[in-house]
Amino acid sequence: MRAAVNTEYGDPEVVRVTEIERPVPGPGEVLVRVHSAAVTAADSRLRAARFPGGFGPIGRLALGLRRPRRTVLGNCVSGVVEAIGGESPGAGGARLRVGQEVAGMTGARMGAHAEFALAKATRFVPKPAGVSHDQAAGVLFGGSTAVHYLREKGRLAPGSSVLVVGASGAVGTNAVQLAAHLGARVTAVTSGANAGLAERLGASTVIDHSAPGTPPASSGHGHRHGRGHGHSHVPYGLAERFDLVLDTVGVLSPASGRRLLTERGVLLLAVADLGQTLRSVGRVKSGPAPEKPEVFAELLELVDRGLLEVVVESVHPLDDIVAAHRRVDSGRKVGNILVHP
Ligand SMILES: NC(=O)c1ccc[n+]([C@@H]2O[C@H](COP(=O)([O-])OP(=O)(O)OC[C@H]3O[C@@H](n4cnc5c(N)ncnc54)[C@H](OP(=O)(O)O)[C@@H]3O)[C@@H](O)[C@H]2O)c1
Repeated sequence: MRAAVNTEYGDPEVVRVTEIERPVPGPGEVLVRVHSAAVTAADSRLRAARFPGGFGPIGRLALGLRRPRRTVLGNCVSGVVEAIGGESPGAGGARLRVGQEVAGMTGARMGAHAEFALAKATRFVPKPAGVSHDQAAGVLFGGSTAVHYLREKGRLAPGSSVLVVGASGAVGTNAVQLAAHLGARVTAVTSGANAGLAERLGASTVIDHSAPGTPPASSGHGHRHGRGHGHSHVPYGLAERFDLVLDTVGVLSPASGRRLLTERGVLLLAVADLGQTLRSVGRVKSGPAPEKPEVFAELLELVDRGLLEVVVESVHPLDDIVAAHRRVDSGRKVGNILVHP
């Protein structure tokens, strides 16, 4: 089968499309013919072995010290069941059958940037007929992360105020919509070019971080990403305080983010370096979002009912995988980038 393979860490150019052996599902596994797969911030991090500060050694221990153990990236997939290994019920015990349309995340095994992806059957849920393969592959990464942070870590309640920093990315576009859907008042931080998108997705206020005169997220003073500390500077010079603040970019620190919180507010750092993760206690939360099939099913249902829009910037043939990685690396993509193997 054709697959996008990277046998070394590095720039997007390390990925090349080549023929590899088609995997065979063992007991408990399914092989899915990939119709659409997302190229995500996680793929970009794994390809380059580029992790938030301090996580490099841990990341390389997990992924391969000198070169990646998993050579095909991609873990958000929508497609059709090609083969089932033995008795292999899908998530929640659902019976999967060959020819069925399914979507899911393949976990650390990755492998979705290929004609066929192999994973545990329990990682897949049926794809509703009214949801396209692109919508299904696109919603999983950002949607799962947004649900995890807003609902599970932040316990978002109707009527609360939520600030989403990085509202136009994969996580941000889902976070804005899910927060609004759950009854929150949403303020979005994005560049001016994406302000209209954030409003359409449900933000009632937009802060243009790129506008001249907008104070920075953090006072900076030479710290990378402006992670200065010991200053009373309020990010973006905001007067309002929020019940939940979700940073999907990595521009807030526990100290600067706390200045934006109401008395009982919670700071959610989807991107945090090791030091910040260690300081994420009490009302500051960080860490990896789990991949839960019950959440996949919930997200797909919201898309099916027209309640959640999957923002897609571009769709590429597998042969354009390097260009797709380059765009993800830019940190400026809007919503999702997909490939069709
Ligand atoms: N903890 C977890 O489990 C978890 C899960 C998923 C993702 N993540 C991490 O979360 C991050 C975001 O992921 P993603 O997929 O949403 O990324 P993404 O789609 O690549 O985000 C791109 C967006 O970020 C915005 N952006 C860039 N700089 C900004 C700034 N200074 N202020 C506000 N917005 C800015 C850009 O909008 P503008 O051009 O308009 O500024 C762009 O639309 C990644 O680092 C990823 O590794 C963590």
